[in-house]
Amino acid sequence: MTEKQEKSSEAIFSKSFDRNPYPIFKRLRQEDPIRKTMLPSGHYTWIVTTYKDAETILKDKRFIKDYTNLMEFEKEEDRYAHTSIFARNMLFADLPDHRRLRGLVQQAFTPKVIEELRPRIQEITDDLLDQVEQNGKMNLIDDFAFPLPIIVICEMLGVPSEDRDQFRMWSNTLIESTGDPEDTEKVMLHMQQFTQYLTDWVATRRHEPKEDLVSKLIHAEEEGDRLSEQELYGVIALLIMAGHETTVNLISNGVLALLNHPDQLEALRKDPSLIKPAIEEFLRFDGPVEFSTDRWAIETIEIGGQMIQKGDHVLVALNSANRDESVFNDPDLFDITRDSSKHLAFGKGIHFCLGAPLARLEAEIAVGTLLNRLTNLKLNVEEHKLIWRPSLIIRGLEELPITFEKV
Ligand code: HEM
Repeated sequence: MTEKQEKSSEAIFSKSFDRNPYPIFKRLRQEDPIRKTMLPSGHYTWIVTTYKDAETILKDKRFIKDYTNLMEFEKEEDRYAHTSIFARNMLFADLPDHRRLRGLVQQAFTPKVIEELRPRIQEITDDLLDQVEQNGKMNLIDDFAFPLPIIVICEMLGVPSEDRDQFRMWSNTLIESTGDPEDTEKVMLHMQQFTQYLTDWVATRRHEPKEDLVSKLIHAEEEGDRLSEQELYGVIALLIMAGHETTVNLISNGVLALLNHPDQLEALRKDPSLIKPAIEEFLRFDGPVEFSTDRWAIETIEIGGQMIQKGDHVLVALNSANRDESVFNDPDLFDITRDSSKHLAFGKGIHFCLGAPLARLEAEIAVGTLLNRLTNLKLNVEEHKLIWRPSLIIRGLEELPITFEKV
């Protein structure tokens, strides 16, 4: 690596990057839009920061998700020795497995089916606000933005939402793991505990099927060749983790952006019909998923003047693409009235977020109800004291203390 490259990779994994990645992304887009960088694990990756390259890579099936497709096996079963059950799901699968795995749960996540959850999501939102309304203050994450999506996904799946603190711990360990050898022991332990939990839960549901997603998936697995037992655990774990790590940050990063831009907060309060474009602007301006998940080049591919070699690892910086000045005018400006619809916060191509309709609806109800019921919202800590989670993939705060008054 050249000296300039070493500086940039240090910058990407620094505390100041966690706090505010956008100046570093801007410099990369201008100076080094596809650059090779060392991850904290010691492995090299290509970091892709412009919108055009990001979109191209996400749509190009030569950038694969399942790295075992780069390896040769004598027996097909040997492939499994190389992946944990957390990787045996659609997000880490290539065609044709991807189509089969996504197809099994797709019906439960269409905008029409999700819209039917509106009354229940509203009820959960109101219950959560009932519990804190009198206090005049809350930690928006623990008291509101975190429990809401968890309760919803647990009810959809049919797993007990009372166990959410355990899910949070397991899921945080996996998401925040940097691949650093020091992390490995904890990751292994939490993966084992999570797997045991899923095994026990599936066994319970097998004896007592209900009208939930886990029961439907067990049925598909029992029918034979549509879903293996490992894939059954894989998809449940993926949905639990996706439900824990993402929408919480859409709501909290969005509320933080509104608090930092009082004119926009006022505009939304005055005209609640702006809620849908506001949610899209939350996603563009400070999206919950900083980098896409892993991709590997299945052949040597030239892109943006760089030769990405067969087997190279690639990470697409979604939050950088969403601030690309060649696509969005004045991209660092937070403007809930702009057309943000081109953002890549939910990815692109075959792995486009399955949960997008659910995340959008939860955020719409959560933020809409918050503004309806509470006023005079203020940060209850100096902004520079807010702590951003150290994850490479997720962009979200540890806590968001706020004060308010009842409307
Ligand atoms: C995939 C973002 C909420 C389920 C993805 C991807 C992104 C993303 C960027 C693609 C990753 C890649 O290509 O490497 C988000 C954001 C969310 C959100 C920003 C909230 C604001 C959810 C929710 C669920 C969910 C609530 C379900 C409970 C999934 C699944 C995939 C996925 C299953 C894999 C799709 C596939 O591989 O075909 N999400 N997500 N997501 N998301 Fe989400």
